[in-house]
Amino acid sequence: MPNASAAKQAAGTAAADLVESGMTLGLGTGSTTACALEALGTRIQNDGLDIVGVPTSFAAERLANQHDIPLTTLDDVPRLDLALDGADEVDPEGRLIKGRGAAHTREKVVAHAAERFVVLIDPSKPVDELGHAFPLPIEIVPMALGPVQRLIEQLGGHPELRMGAAKDGPVISDQGLWIVDAHLDGITDPEALNRTLNDQPGILDHGLFLDLATDILCGEANGSVTHTV
Ligand code: 5RP
Repeated sequence: MPNASAAKQAAGTAAADLVESGMTLGLGTGSTTACALEALGTRIQNDGLDIVGVPTSFAAERLANQHDIPLTTLDDVPRLDLALDGADEVDPEGRLIKGRGAAHTREKVVAHAAERFVVLIDPSKPVDELGHAFPLPIEIVPMALGPVQRLIEQLGGHPELRMGAAKDGPVISDQGLWIVDAHLDGITDPEALNRTLNDQPGILDHGLFLDLATDILCGEANGSVTHTV
């Protein structure tokens, strides 16, 4: 990926190095994972790497096709060996905020189906507490906008319906739904918030990923990678 930073390239290449022939993979969404998909494409072409992947978005599907990565679905492959994906924030306990690319619902399904969920980041992503640098993305059924906005306000936050680049309508997710970004000014108890959001009708899923990450690969600008498990 020519425009990705050296740190993202380093994380992506290190992630691709974890992959062995015969593996079933989850293919995440975003610029860091795109580096991993490119590296996997190179290994397929040069070394005959034999893998099959489940994409987490239409964007990931397009990218996988560009790199000749064979695709399948979770109907045909119930368990994945390894899922590779990025994150917007990672706290010291490996809890994540995801969904800046509006793909978190499928990303969570794929991460949950994987034996190992490898998160690829650069040094801008680690945080002491989730929810300061990025809002929490919440995918909703459009008619539930009012109730979800009121819930976020009750929680002390500020809801913002995510708009498209042209500002002429909401961003539409791959599921045909809307994204509300919850500005929470810090998430002191991610597990409690996870339960509250999971209990709210009209929310399909949200970007809190708890107890899912097994490995964090943090690429650095000098090309080195820190691997924490
Ligand atoms: C998409 C995501 C991405 O993985 C996350 O936004 C990180 O993206 P990038 O690697 O481009 O920084 O959750 O829904």
